[in-house]
This record gives sequence, C-alpha cells and structure tokens, in this order.
Amino acid sequence: MESHQRVLSGMRPTGALHLGHYHGVLRNWVKLQHEFECFFFVADWHALTTDYADTSGIEASVWDMVIDWLAVGVDPSSAKIFVQSQVPEHAELHLLLSMATPLGWLERVPSYKDQQEKLRDRDLATYGFLGYPLLQSADILIYKAGKVPVGEDQVAHVELTREVARRFNHLYGRESDFEQKADAAIKKMGKKNSKLFNKLRNQYQEQGDHEALAVAQALLESQQNITLSDRERLYGYLEGGGRIILPEPQALLTKASKMPGLDGQKMSKSYGNTISLRDDLSAIETKLRTMPTDPARVRRTDPGDPAKCPVWQFHEIYSSDETRKWVVEGCRSASIGCIDCKQPVIDAVCEELKPIQARAQEYVGQPDLIRDIVHRGSEAARDVARDTLDEVRRAMGLSYK
Ligand code: TRP
Ligand code: SF4
Repeated sequence: MESHQRVLSGMRPTGALHLGHYHGVLRNWVKLQHEFECFFFVADWHALTTDYADTSGIEASVWDMVIDWLAVGVDPSSAKIFVQSQVPEHAELHLLLSMATPLGWLERVPSYKDQQEKLRDRDLATYGFLGYPLLQSADILIYKAGKVPVGEDQVAHVELTREVARRFNHLYGRESDFEQKADAAIKKMGKKNSKLFNKLRNQYQEQGDHEALAVAQALLESQQNITLSDRERLYGYLEGGGRIILPEPQALLTKASKMPGLDGQKMSKSYGNTISLRDDLSAIETKLRTMPTDPARVRRTDPGDPAKCPVWQFHEIYSSDETRKWVVEGCRSASIGCIDCKQPVIDAVCEELKPIQARAQEYVGQPDLIRDIVHRGSEAARDVARDTLDEVRRAMGLSYK
C-alpha cells in the first residue's frame, strides 16, 4: 500500500467509551482498517496537557479504552494499535518541529482559548498545553499519514499540521544536488515515462495546468522501480519546490455522530447522558425506560409528536421503516404508550451491545494479552517512526554519520 494512504488517528484516554464513540468514530475505524494501513493510538501525552496535576486515572483509562477498541472490532492484525508514550519518536519530532513553529500559529488555533475558557478550574497557561496541536502534528507526520479521520473540532489541528509540514519541507527539503538527483530519478522511469513526466511538469509550471500536475502525480504513483525518497523528490520537483520529506495530510472529516444522548442532546460524558459500551444491560434498560419523552404526553391518552422526543432519535438509528411508521402513527394517535415505544429501542441497543460486551469480558480477563497487543503495536509503529525520524535528522543535518 502507498504511504500516502496511511491512516492515523488518536483518542485521548477518557475512560469508558459510549455509544456516541461507537457510532461516531469506532465504526469508521473498523471500516477503514480494511481499506488502508491504519495506525490507531491512545494519546496519553495529550491527556497530560490538561490532566497533569492528577495523573492517577490515566493508565487505567488507557487499558479500558484499548479493550473497548478491541471489543468493537478494531483488529490488531490489520491496524497498529499503540500508546503514544510507548513511541518516544513522537516526542523527538515534536521538539524538532517546535524550533521552527511560530508562537502565533499555536496561539491562533481556536481550541487553545476555547479550552482554557472551558476548563477554568485548571491552569492551562502552560508550555505543554500551547504545544498540544504541534504534538498532534508530530503524531501525524511521524507516520507520513495521508488521511486523518477526525471530528469537526480537530480539523484546525490538521490544518496546522499541513502548514508545519510545508514549512519543514521548505526549510529542509533543499539538497545542494537536488536538481541532479531529480534528473537521475526521472531517468529511472524509462525513456517514454521520463519524457511524458517532463512534458507534464512544464505544462504545470509554465501554464499552471493542474490537470497535467494530477496526471504527473498519478504517473509517479504508478512507478514500480523508483525508491521512496526519489518519489518524494519528484513530487517536490513537480511543484517547483524541494524534496517533500513530510507530506501534508488530509483531514477525513467524520460526520458528527447522530447518536443522541438520553436527554436528546449530543451524547457526551460531560452531559451525563451516556450509554457506555460496558454498562450492564439491565442498567441500560432502566436508563432507556426512564429517559424523557415528548413533554406533551403527560398522560397515556395524550397524543405526542416524535419530532419533539429524544426516543425518536434512537428509532432513527436503530429501527426499520416499519417500526418507525408504527411509532409515528401510534404516538400521534396515542394508541401506543411511551414504554411500548421504547421497547424496540431497548431490544436493539441490547442486541448491538451483547456481542461487544462478551468480547470485552474476554479481554478484561486477559490483561497480559492486552499488554502484548499494545506492545507489538507500539513496536510496529516505532519501526515506521524511526525511519521518518532518520530522514528528518538527515535533512536537518543532525545524522552524525
Ligand atoms: N486531539 C485529538 C482529540 O482530542 C486526539 C489526537 C491526538 C489525535 N493526536 C492525534 C487525533 C493525531 C488525530 C491525529 O480527539
Ligand atoms: Fe416519544 Fe415514542 Fe412516547 Fe412518542 S410514543 S413521545 S415517540 S417515546
């Protein structure tokens, strides 16, 4: 698989995951792992940026989160599952990138001020917190990830990453013998392709022909007998810059989960309206039975309106057309009660969670297995991270060989 098709995403260890995470993020990960080379990691250093004063919960949250990932089907034989702090290469790249990152870029990231205001009880006027998005950039760039699945709130961080990569390539992608090396690389593509490549490059650089650029990039992609560094060189050469050492990633926007919380707001731990993946099924049943409905239905005989009821949002996710029709008609005519209406949702949520909980239970009983999975994932991630770091050091003149 091509390196630009690597997918990378991370989650801060927040403890037990809930249905919102499952429907919003994890199902997407499970799908992506079959399509791309995936790297999924627990961002424990990122947790420190806000929780540095009390680190006691972090480790347990990490293991719990990994168990939840595995239980929903993230598969360590297709994706690399690891913990950020077990791959210290992230930290070295963060440090190196920090040297050339203007303070203003970090101060302008919207989450910086937003979070400081939201978490007023903590002192977030720290160096680490300011660096949060740059650490995230290092997480992404160290794997040369092409695609980063994130929610809306993280898009600005991927944008910053693109700028940081561009700046890095601009500063350090200029080798003294760049032109010669590029020429030699072009020749390796064979006579016909070399000629075509040069023609397309001229069309792009002289006439701004973006189609020619795209065709030339596709041509590069299809070349079997050039090395990875030659390919990067030629990507840069095409666009008139130097060598591209750290490719710019693309955010893969994960649509906001439609999963409502028990009160109809977005499902979120801070609203206390969640159904955790590992809640007891009987507790889930109670939560759903007691969740609010259309306030107009005071008595069983009062008609209601599904549009004003959070239970309806669950039907939109879990129920068939037929059941939904039954709900709409029954609610508006008061021919069904709210408890009747909730039953298919209760059944569907429990059906969905039963196999997940069974798998989670197995993992809970095998802590050594979890540690082993994370250890192996971290080692596999390190192999890739070390290679990038070698290139970065070399480009910066720090290889001491
Ligand atoms: N900041 C992300 C969040 O809060 C977590 C994260 C850390 C991340 N590093 C990342 C996400 C790299 C994607 C890529 O959700
Ligand atoms: Fe909500 Fe269903 Fe009750 Fe209507 S019948 S108010 S949709 S729970």
